[in-house]
Amino acid sequence: MSKLIINIKELIQIRDRNISFLSAKEMDTLPSINNAYLLIENGKISEFGKMSEISKIDNVETIDAKNKIVLPCWCDSHTHSVYTGNRSDEYLQRINGVSYQEIANNGGGILKSSRQINSISEDELFFESKNRIEKLIKYGTGSLEIKTGYGLSYDGELKMLKVIKRLKESLPIQIKSTFLGAHAIPKNYKKEEYFRLVLDEMLPDFAKDELIDFVDIFCEKNYFSAEDTKILCNKASELGIASKIHVNQFNSIGGVKVAVDCGALSVDHLEVINKSDINILKQSKTIPILLPGCSFFLGIEYADAKKLLSNEIPFAIASDYNPGSSPSGNMNFILSLACNKLKLTTEQAINAATINGAYAMGLSYKTGSITKGKIANVVITSEIESINDLPYFYGDNLVDKILINGEEII
Ligand code: NIG
Ligand code: FE
Repeated sequence: MSKLIINIKELIQIRDRNISFLSAKEMDTLPSINNAYLLIENGKISEFGKMSEISKIDNVETIDAKNKIVLPCWCDSHTHSVYTGNRSDEYLQRINGVSYQEIANNGGGILKSSRQINSISEDELFFESKNRIEKLIKYGTGSLEIKTGYGLSYDGELKMLKVIKRLKESLPIQIKSTFLGAHAIPKNYKKEEYFRLVLDEMLPDFAKDELIDFVDIFCEKNYFSAEDTKILCNKASELGIASKIHVNQFNSIGGVKVAVDCGALSVDHLEVINKSDINILKQSKTIPILLPGCSFFLGIEYADAKKLLSNEIPFAIASDYNPGSSPSGNMNFILSLACNKLKLTTEQAINAATINGAYAMGLSYKTGSITKGKIANVVITSEIESINDLPYFYGDNLVDKILINGEEII
């Protein structure tokens, strides 16, 4: 049945069909209608406008959103949300001054998650991940990118990809799968040997089986070089797969240039950025994805969002949800961090977490804004003063209802 949301205090993020992402300047504003209605038919947004202009609609279920704000669901374009186990021991070590890299050098970090994932079955991993993602949907996430990278072997990576495929089939939200086989070097391999396995066996086989939407690599000192990044991205391009790159988290080692040169869809992290990285990004269509949850949790620098904006470089924000560097996928908290720590306005942060997030996973043609024909993934907030309450009440749950494909989830 059709659904009609009425008396909406403010319907925000209204965009034309042809907008795929927002420029840095456009991120300043959030087009909206006060006292609005929104009509949903066949799971899609079919009409919206002012309450005073509503026409009579028969056979429709009505939701009254008096004093509530309606916005598109969050588009979380960077997560590692398929994992198992817990790394709170590392968190405690870090509080006592041990760094993320030192923990990794001692066999913890990504390699610990890899041991944990390889010790459980595909079914166990699927059900555990499904539960976790169902919680994210209740926080307002309507589209989600999920990376592999904890398998670190042919079978382990394949298991993760199969789990992501099952999640796509069993959950109502939009999910994109990113192959991050080159996330770390497993213990029993020399780097070159493992990287060849990723390039020559995993990538072509997994691509052939249509398990991969994007390819990623951890371009960082002691992990994979800018040259490795170039080789992987070019190979992915040959297979028709776009790249999303982990780059400049701790060091700037040339990965931004390589990513832009090979037409990567996104460059993610950028906690460390230099002038030449900025100049390269300025002239590109590659979108940065900033991950303030990771800076918060690891206690590292926050990405310089203001510098990107002043150089007219737009970006998305995402959760980076993973057990090591950002164990929360709650995008409401990420919004607060983006305002509080990246010094964004609420408008900029919401734009970064919706339409630009959708673009950063190739989904802005069907989600990320209130646009006729897009899927009806919307958040109805509780009764709030204005959109500024969303980042302001950082620990509160201000979600009243979530609609995914027009269906009420909560
Ligand atoms: O984005 N830096 C690389 N990958 C993840 C962390 C993965 C982990 O620690 O398990 C990140 O922060
Ligand atoms: Fe990440």
